[in-house]
Amino acid sequence: MSKILITKRVYPEAVDLLTRSFPVDYEATDAGLSTPQLIERARGCQAIVSQLTDKLGADVLAQLEGVKIIANVAVGYDNIDVPAATARGIMVTNTPGVLTETTADFAFTLLMAAARRIPEAHAFVHSGQWKTWLIDLLAGQDIHGATLGIFGFGRIGIAVARRARGFGMNILYCDAFPAAPEIESELGARLVSKDELLRSSDFVSLHVPLLPETKHLIGAAELALMKPTAVLINTARGPVVDEAALADALERRVIWSAGLDVFEQEPALHPKLLTLPNVVLAPHIASASIATRRRMSMMAAENAAAALSGQRPPNLLNPEILG
Ligand code: DGY
Repeated sequence: MSKILITKRVYPEAVDLLTRSFPVDYEATDAGLSTPQLIERARGCQAIVSQLTDKLGADVLAQLEGVKIIANVAVGYDNIDVPAATARGIMVTNTPGVLTETTADFAFTLLMAAARRIPEAHAFVHSGQWKTWLIDLLAGQDIHGATLGIFGFGRIGIAVARRARGFGMNILYCDAFPAAPEIESELGARLVSKDELLRSSDFVSLHVPLLPETKHLIGAAELALMKPTAVLINTARGPVVDEAALADALERRVIWSAGLDVFEQEPALHPKLLTLPNVVLAPHIASASIATRRRMSMMAAENAAAALSGQRPPNLLNPEILG
C-alpha cells in the first residue's frame, strides 16, 4: 500500500485524513527533517507532504525513488525544483486560494503598522517614556488617500488593492500581464512601468512569486527611485528584496519605513534590521490565521490522497506529466 511521509508538524486533522487510508510516517516535530533524513525517510514512500523549509532541488529529487507526489503546504513552491520534478514524473501541488484573504489582511496590517509606527509606539508606552501629549509624538504617514503601488497583481495583490480602496487609496500596479478590465475599473487600478510605480507610490507592496526574474526586484537602484516618505511591504519572498540594500536605505532614510514578513535567509535576517526603529518585522506569518493554516494542511493532505488514489490532485502544478 502507498505510504506517505509528512516532513514536519501540520494541523492534526490533515494527519487524521491521511492515516484513515494510508500508512503514514509523520515527523511530528517543529524542527522537521534535515535533507539527508528526508531522503532516508522517503524510501518506500510514494507521497511527501512538504513545507517551505524542505529544500527539494534537483539533486534531492533524484534521490526520491518511487515518490509520485510532493504536496507542499504553501502557495509558494520556490523550495521545489518543479521542472526537475516534472522530468522525473513527480507531481507537485500547492495550496492556492485559501490563504489569499488572510495574507492580504496581513500585508495591510504591516502597511498600517509601518506607516503609523505601531511597534515604536508600543515600545514607547511599555518603557515608561510617555510623559505628555506632544504635537509630533510618533507622527507617521497618512494611509487614506495615498497611492499604493503593487508588484504582482495576482490573487493576493488584488486582495490587497481591495482593502486599499476601502481607505480611499489610489492603486498602481506592475505585472507581466494586465488585469481584466473589470478588475481595473472596480479598483481604479492602473498598470504602470516599474519606474513609474516606484516614483509615484507612497506605499509599495510586493506580491510576486520568487523566480530568477524577481530575485532582487527591489535593490539599491529601486529604493533610490522611491519617495523618502515611502513605505515598502514584503509578504512575498525574502530574496525579492536585496535585504542589505534595504537595511542601508532604511538607515539612511532613503525611504521612510518597511514592513517585512519574509527574509533572504530565514530565520536569519540582516543584523542591521534588528537595530532600526523604522522597520516592522514578522516571522513569515502572513498566512498564519488558525483557520487558514488548518485549511492549508488539509489541502496538502487532500492533494496527496488524491494522487495516491489514482485521481488528479486538485492543485496540480505540473499537469503535463499526466499527458
Ligand atoms: C506560502 O504559502 O507560500 C506562504 O509563504 C506561507 O503561507
